[in-house]
Amino acid sequence: MAAPGRLTTTPDGRLAGLGVHGGRLLDRLAALAAVGDTGDGGNCRLACTDDDAGGRELVVGWMHELGLDVRIDRVGNVVGVRDGTEAGAAVMTGSHIDTVRTGGRYDGTLGVLAGLEVLRTLDDAGIRTRRPLAVAFFSNEEGARFPPDMLGSLAYAGGITLEEADAAVGIDGSTFGAELARIGWAGEVPVPGPAPHAFVELHIEQGPVLEEAGVAIGVVTGVQGISWRELTLTGESNHAGTTPLRLRHDAGLVGAQVAVAVRRIATVLGGARSQGKGPPNSSMVGTVGSLRLHPDLVNVVAATATMTVDLRNTDDDVLAEAERLVAAEVEALAAAEGVTARWRPLARFAPVTFDPDVVALVEATARALGSTTMRLPSGAGHDAQMLARVCPAGMVFVPSRAGISHNPAEHTDPDQLVAGADVLLHVLVGLAGIAAAPLVGAGA
Ligand code: HGY
Ligand code: MN
Ligand code: MN
Repeated sequence: MAAPGRLTTTPDGRLAGLGVHGGRLLDRLAALAAVGDTGDGGNCRLACTDDDAGGRELVVGWMHELGLDVRIDRVGNVVGVRDGTEAGAAVMTGSHIDTVRTGGRYDGTLGVLAGLEVLRTLDDAGIRTRRPLAVAFFSNEEGARFPPDMLGSLAYAGGITLEEADAAVGIDGSTFGAELARIGWAGEVPVPGPAPHAFVELHIEQGPVLEEAGVAIGVVTGVQGISWRELTLTGESNHAGTTPLRLRHDAGLVGAQVAVAVRRIATVLGGARSQGKGPPNSSMVGTVGSLRLHPDLVNVVAATATMTVDLRNTDDDVLAEAERLVAAEVEALAAAEGVTARWRPLARFAPVTFDPDVVALVEATARALGSTTMRLPSGAGHDAQMLARVCPAGMVFVPSRAGISHNPAEHTDPDQLVAGADVLLHVLVGLAGIAAAPLVGAGA
């Protein structure tokens, strides 16, 4: 729906007929996807890399074009503010523009660019809101280079100090603070940032649930708990040809055994569901996403294995049980092979429940706009879960084709992207309140 010539207000106070300019949104998504383009339809803009900086430049330029008051804080979070007719806390939306190494083009970027499109749509329609509106992108949401994930929004919400954020060590040995300074995006505004009046994030689901249910809009009830830990296994390098099996202390073997154990434990704790036999969006998943051997040579028994264990569950007690079971299994496997094990925590966030009033507003708005809806928890972590610490928060999901994400094949149909942006538009206006809407005609 493009912004029309005449608007009317519906009984529930919405501006009937007001919609984002879908083509403009799709063009902006394509323009940002050209930064850090991996040539296979995907994007790589790892946090604090030159490509991340390129994406930041582009989006901040669009913020300035909208005449927003752009504020950059000490951890590189960027917030563009559109004044309301009243002062006070802004209604905020946004997400992230950093990606994983094999990222798609909608993870995070949809939430940021749809937020800017909402502001442009309001400008086109001459609509002023009572509360200010803000669009943010937060630094290092992925945590793929510098754990923990959601580092920027966590700092914005006061969950991590500037010193702790700056000291975050990357997978390449660099630190977040040094790399953010290197790309020139460490701002002056202190963290934590001002608490918004409310925060609503539009995001692709990144899972199969909406598509399998044939539903257009996900009304997100919360975010599952996340446990990230690094495990270092230390054995003994030795000759692959001459060393009898009985004399080996093979860190590579134990690393592989741990990966198998993680899947088995997640399967057991998740019940049949986590084997894909029950409804999707199982409540227990476990992943070994990184496993690096040293010296990583064909004819050398591995001296060390450095790996990551990602465990998630909507129930914090079950998540803690999974952590305990994995630790016990690692201890037994390491002892059997004469290998030592050392854990390093990378991230641990309890499950989050979103504000029921925001959840209800997202659901009612989506239905009033004619979309089918379903309520679901988020399997992925999001900045909204950090903003939920300081204000009422919620999320709007749109479907992911085949549930694929963190993969260049990540895709959401254009009409689905636009439908999500229209829901975001009306939710934000509902939260910010309309002060002036000159195009509202008779029948208001
Ligand atoms: O890991 C996550 O859930 C998110 O992509 N940072
Ligand atoms: Mn994301
Ligand atoms: Mn992601």
